[in-house]
Formats: sequence, C-alpha cells, structure tokens
Amino acid sequence: MEPWQEIRNELQAALGSAKRLDEVEQIRVRFLGRKGKITLLAKETGFSRLTPEDRRHWGSQLNSLKRWAEESIEQALAEARAREAARAAEASRARLDVTLPGIERRVGSLHPISLVQMELEDIFQGMGFMVLTGYEVETEYYNFDALNIPPDHPARDMQDTFWLDNGMILRTHTSANQVRALEEFGAPLRAIFPGRCFRYEAMDASHENTFYQLEGLLVDRDISVANLIAVMKALLGEVFHREVKVRLRPGFFPFVEPGFELDQQCPFCDGVGCSVCKQSGWIELIPCGLVHPKVLEYGRVDPTQFTGFAFGMGLTRLAMLKFGIPDIRLFNSGDLRFCEQFPVVL
Ligand code: DAH
Repeated sequence: MEPWQEIRNELQAALGSAKRLDEVEQIRVRFLGRKGKITLLAKETGFSRLTPEDRRHWGSQLNSLKRWAEESIEQALAEARAREAARAAEASRARLDVTLPGIERRVGSLHPISLVQMELEDIFQGMGFMVLTGYEVETEYYNFDALNIPPDHPARDMQDTFWLDNGMILRTHTSANQVRALEEFGAPLRAIFPGRCFRYEAMDASHENTFYQLEGLLVDRDISVANLIAVMKALLGEVFHREVKVRLRPGFFPFVEPGFELDQQCPFCDGVGCSVCKQSGWIELIPCGLVHPKVLEYGRVDPTQFTGFAFGMGLTRLAMLKFGIPDIRLFNSGDLRFCEQFPVVL
C-alpha cells in the first residue's frame, strides 16, 4: 500500500472513534502538527532523488492527502464543538438554581373611579336599589326636555353640550336615565345609574370634558326630604367609614322641586376649615331634590299618588375626595403609575 493510503486509513479510523473536542485536537497534532505524520512524510520524501514523473505524482498525492486531512479534521472539530454546546445547554436546563430571583408577575389594578363606583353600587344594592346603565349617546328629549328643561330654558346653558351630526348628543348628566327608567319600570322604583358624562368644557385641575356621575332615583308613596337625608347620610357614612354631618342649602335644578345642594362637613378638618374645603368647613357634594311632578308625568307616573327624590353625585369628585387626588386630569391620563396606587378592597 502506498504510504498516503495508509495514513488516510489511519486518520479515518482515529476520527471515527474520537468524540470529544480535545481528542480531535490531539489527532490534529498527531497528523498535521510539526512532527505529525503527514508533515514528516512530506519532509522525508527525498524529492531530489525522484524522477520528474514520480516527483509530480508524489507531490500531487501529498497535497491532496494534506488537504483532505485538514478538511476532515476541521469537520470533526465542528461536530465535536456542536456536541459539546448541546451538552452544556442540556446541563444548564436540568439544573435548578434556587438562589435565582423569582419572575415577578404584574398584577393588574382597578381605576379609582371603578373602585368608588363598585363600592357605591354595593351600598345601594344593600338598600334595595337596582343598578342600571343608560346610553352615553342620548336624545335631546331624555337629556333635557323630559327633565323639564325646554329648548329655550336658560338651564341648558349650564351644561355645554357636545352635539352629534345626527342630532343626538353625548349625555351631559346621568339624570338622562330618570325618565327612561320610570317609563320602563314605573313606580315604586329604586335605581342608581352610574356612568360617563360629557361636557364641552375647558379643562383644568377641576374640570374635565369626560367625567363620571352616579344618579339615584327613588319613587314611592309618601317620600319626603327626610327620606332623602337619611339615605344620603347612610351612604356617606359607609363611604367615609364614620358618621358624617350634612347640611342642605337650596339649589336650583329644573327637574326637582324643591332642589338642594347637600354639603358634607369637611372630612379632612372636621369643619374647622382647611385648603380642601377652602376654609369653609363644608364641601359641596351632592345636588339633589324631590322629583318634579312634571318629570313623573313624563315618566307616566301619577304625581298625585307618588313622590320621590333624586340625586346626582359626581363619582369623579367623590374619588378625588376619598383618595385625596389633587387634579381631575389624572383620571383620564392613562398613567399606570397613577392607577396602580389604589388599594383593591373587594
Ligand atoms: N344632573 C345634575 C348635573 O349634572 C345634577 C343633579 C342635580 C342631579 C339634582 C339630580 C338632582 O338628580 O336632583 O348637574
């Protein structure tokens, strides 16, 4: 057998049984290193003694042996490297490092308006009120006319309105639900209507064009202002977790008669006077009143048989008070750092 054929067989057998990277590396040294078999074979060949024809033959055989050896070893090295990497990956997968920090899962939170709304719904449901929702896109009729606010009435100017191209409006208050509910359920009736309202307003720290109200309506026989006060006090007591002092001042709203502004003694200073209540000791909180007979009539309820009270709380305002939120624009800011601050007590 020619010497290069012998070396070729030997190298092939060696690579066939070598698995690890260092084994293949040793083979490379054994064949291609300075004293490697192929290197020596080239050196020991006395080219000068050969005929020109033999010289060409030996030369080309040696060259191709060398090239083949280099390629085979290179390939074996690559395969050994890949095997080693796979083994390392497998090992690190299998190992559990209990000292690593855990993966933190972010828990969602509820918006402060949702929190206050859910709390109020609970309280009112406990007093036998239905929770109803109406329509954010309303007709002029339910938002104004049926609430005893005719087209030329100056009270319409109190609520700057977004008008849609089709003649409908974005409701300016949740009072728009009153006559809808009376029509649908008749009397007696106890219902609250939480929801989003819209007004064409310039925004600042206490004005938003999009805000939340919670309307309430109770219609039954012999309902008086005393019932209204009792329900409002019970409600505020639960919201602020203590006995709350209230007072009524006259207020004008076309859909109630008499109408009131219900003030709460400032919960921050107990009536002494502070920046929240602007030193007055009182906070204007809930506009309310006895349902106007005309509104009952619009709702097809007989005002000689039934009376009722209604109120319209600013949910947004209540959330500001309860959580001490200084700027109304934070509510619609979409800023998670704001939303995440409020405790979920379900
Ligand atoms: N809808 C009125 C507003 O948004 C608030 C209001 C006042 C509601 C008196 C009532 C009420 O139910 O009786 O300004």
